[in-house]
Amino acid sequence: MKIKLDHVSVKFGDLYAVKDISMTIDKGEYVTILGPSGCGKTTLIKIVSGILRPTEGRVFVDGEDVTDVPIEDRDTGYVFQNIALFPHMTISDNVGYGPRVRDLDSEAVTGTSRQYLELVNMLERAGMMPNEISGGEQQKVAIARALASGSKMLMLDEPLSALDARVRMELRYEIRRLVKKLGITVLHVTHDQEEAMSVSDRMILMRNGGIAETSTPLDMYRRPETIFSAYFVGETNFLECTVVGKTKTGKTTVRLRNDTIVRVAKSKFNVGDPVVISVRPEHVYTASDGLPATVRNVVFMGTYWRIRTLSATDDYIEYNIPADDDIPELGDEVFLVFNKKATLVFARPSEGLEEAIRLE
Ligand SMILES: Nc1ncnc2c1ncn2[C@@H]1O[C@H](COP(=O)(O)OP(=O)(O)O)[C@@H](O)[C@H]1O
Ligand SMILES: [Mg+2]
Repeated sequence: MKIKLDHVSVKFGDLYAVKDISMTIDKGEYVTILGPSGCGKTTLIKIVSGILRPTEGRVFVDGEDVTDVPIEDRDTGYVFQNIALFPHMTISDNVGYGPRVRDLDSEAVTGTSRQYLELVNMLERAGMMPNEISGGEQQKVAIARALASGSKMLMLDEPLSALDARVRMELRYEIRRLVKKLGITVLHVTHDQEEAMSVSDRMILMRNGGIAETSTPLDMYRRPETIFSAYFVGETNFLECTVVGKTKTGKTTVRLRNDTIVRVAKSKFNVGDPVVISVRPEHVYTASDGLPATVRNVVFMGTYWRIRTLSATDDYIEYNIPADDDIPELGDEVFLVFNKKATLVFARPSEGLEEAIRLE
């Protein structure tokens, strides 16, 4: 099912939880909604599913205006953040709930229930009660129940947040595999950027009730459009600087705060413009010459070391080195160079860098 929101806002008292959002989700698309706590993610999917009515704007499903259609008359599966199985029903009856409400005969209900339990590998638990299985298993059942309802639209509100890291990873790929197989359109809310990147066709990054950016995971990571996206998706180092050179093809040179000159990616900026550059830790290297920096912290991350330095520009700059390489000692002086193609340039925010990346 194709979903379209047209200038949708939701107000609670004087506060906009969602402000003027327009967006389209294609049939069969897997879209994640990402953003810090309180930015309006849950409110947004409640509007799409019909749990909430927008204060302003319209909601369309397959071209039909459903803004005033209540949830019970819509065809939407919903998995809540907190596992919400019916505690007095068996696993099998939980999954058969949707089909039963649709008045299928009892044989068809059992058949559908078994089919979806099989999909999430929970068939052998069919006769058990919710409190007899683990949290991860309960969440699988909740997902099976949402799928068994037959809806072609599925809303997932942080369905994995309460689970262990390992279960969380396994389940996220499992969910994607299932919904792709069934051709279901998914809106999946998460505050975990790695989860969002690894399952979605497209990501919607929200901030303060609005959309900060909509992109594919690859674009949002490699070519974020805003300082906030660069900051929220992945990790990055920011340095305030000024453009001092620009070629005809857009290749840009900047002067850092300590007067070090650095070549960066192509940009739209002009000589004299105050800018901020963003360079991810994996694009910072050490060399025999470069930006002087002092090693302040060395952290073992498993597959790599994370080195935190204080640079001559008075910025903290982090870089990675492979787990098997020799590591510097605290207090060592190093010279940092940046991969220029991966060093992105943004306008210096008028409200200040800190404000531009503030989470609340
Ligand atoms: N029923 C409500 N009444 C008043 N304020 C609400 C209500 N629901 C959400 N809010 C507020 O709206 C904002 C967005 O909430 P929510 O959509 O739950 O954010 P998220 O899911 O991104 O954490 C928050 O400031 C929250 O406190
Ligand atoms: Mg929420």
